[in-house]
Amino acid sequence: MSSAALSTQIVRPARGFRGSLMLPGDKSISHRYAMLAGFAEGTSLLTNFSTGADPHSSLACMEAMGAKVSVEGKTIAVTGTGGVLRQPAGDLDCGNSGSTMRMLAGLVAAQEGVYRFVGDESLTVRPMERIRKPLELMGARIELTGPPNGGHAPMTVRGGELAGIDFEAPIASAQVKTAVLFAGLQAKGTTSMAESVRTRDHSEHALRAFGARLERVDGRLVIEGGQKLRAMNATVPGDMSSAAFFLCASLLFEDSNLVLDALGMNPTRASLLDVITSMGGVIKVLDVQEMHGEMSGTIQVNRGRTLRGMEIAGALAAQLIDEIPVIAAIAPYTEGGVRIRDAKELRVKESDRIALVVKNLRAMGAEVVEHEDGMDIPGGQTLRGGVIDSGMDHRIAMAFSIAALRAEGETEIRGAETASISFPEFFTWLDELAIR
Ligand code: S3P
Repeated sequence: MSSAALSTQIVRPARGFRGSLMLPGDKSISHRYAMLAGFAEGTSLLTNFSTGADPHSSLACMEAMGAKVSVEGKTIAVTGTGGVLRQPAGDLDCGNSGSTMRMLAGLVAAQEGVYRFVGDESLTVRPMERIRKPLELMGARIELTGPPNGGHAPMTVRGGELAGIDFEAPIASAQVKTAVLFAGLQAKGTTSMAESVRTRDHSEHALRAFGARLERVDGRLVIEGGQKLRAMNATVPGDMSSAAFFLCASLLFEDSNLVLDALGMNPTRASLLDVITSMGGVIKVLDVQEMHGEMSGTIQVNRGRTLRGMEIAGALAAQLIDEIPVIAAIAPYTEGGVRIRDAKELRVKESDRIALVVKNLRAMGAEVVEHEDGMDIPGGQTLRGGVIDSGMDHRIAMAFSIAALRAEGETEIRGAETASISFPEFFTWLDELAIR
């Protein structure tokens, strides 16, 4: 898309941040429910499914492989293929969604047929070797023909019979874990895997919800092959990674008050709540529920007297990977600054998120030191409104809209429409919650 065609959103400074809302369904859980409902036998009803474009790419791919999808108000009905996918008539278009491409590779690897996956410009430069390696060890044939030297989409999977493997995940990635589990579900024999950092466990819960047996033995995940799935009904909890923008906004104003209903609180996704508390936020958990292993609850967030800085490194960096851009965007307003390390994965997300966060902080007049695997952002800074380059990355567009709330003057977010990848309602709700 040429820059002339990008839509610009103006974000004005605010005086406060208050309100109560229920977020659209979690993007990660929606992907998994879409894929497994499309694979299972019978009709699954999925309520509060993500409104983001990415999980809808997963639904469209499942439809192209034989699932039936219909929307009935806030509920999506998915009739599955009973474990036998149809070879699609054309390419499987994953749009901007790395999750769709990586996780579906595992699902189709054990199926007869040829499956060619394509994506947008950003997806075409994201690393795919990480799933090719374990899936080929299981017997799949995968070609990655994209630029610059292969290793990227377009990706062609020639499916067939797979054999279980014992896999040690070299990088912390829930998407790679999911691809291996989805292939292992259909392979001959048993598949086991170990991860060095415990990544989000939605696939484990989702597989069990659709009737699969999956165990954790001595820290390894173990799945027996040749299993069938059956349909189920679920309500998707609100998306914590979308909530992150408003949670961080509520830290910027002393008298803020934010109530979030039915928010996903899976412990492998809830590190942000500890970060908010460390930075001086006060969180009250008003109610907690569980459905298919996924926790959700109502929380109220206020800010304490100060906004403190902190360090994000090690396992915490992996667990907070999607939230780091917005934490970095509010870092200049903290008292002690924020130090981020061990977050090199940010460089291969929808954009190079380290480079873009640094560039955009500087565009707002902030001081920041870039590192290969993170950055140092001193605290106590005053920012001025600036022109933000979203790089067509949804989380960058939204993160800097939050920084803009406390800046001096207006901020222009270029390519703001990219927010719809995960959170189409973002700018409307931001306007409702910000007190001007
Ligand atoms: C996701 C896992 C993370 C995350 C992405 C969604 C998932 O990626 O950044 O937005 O749903 O499993 P990796 O697993 O590649 O780290």
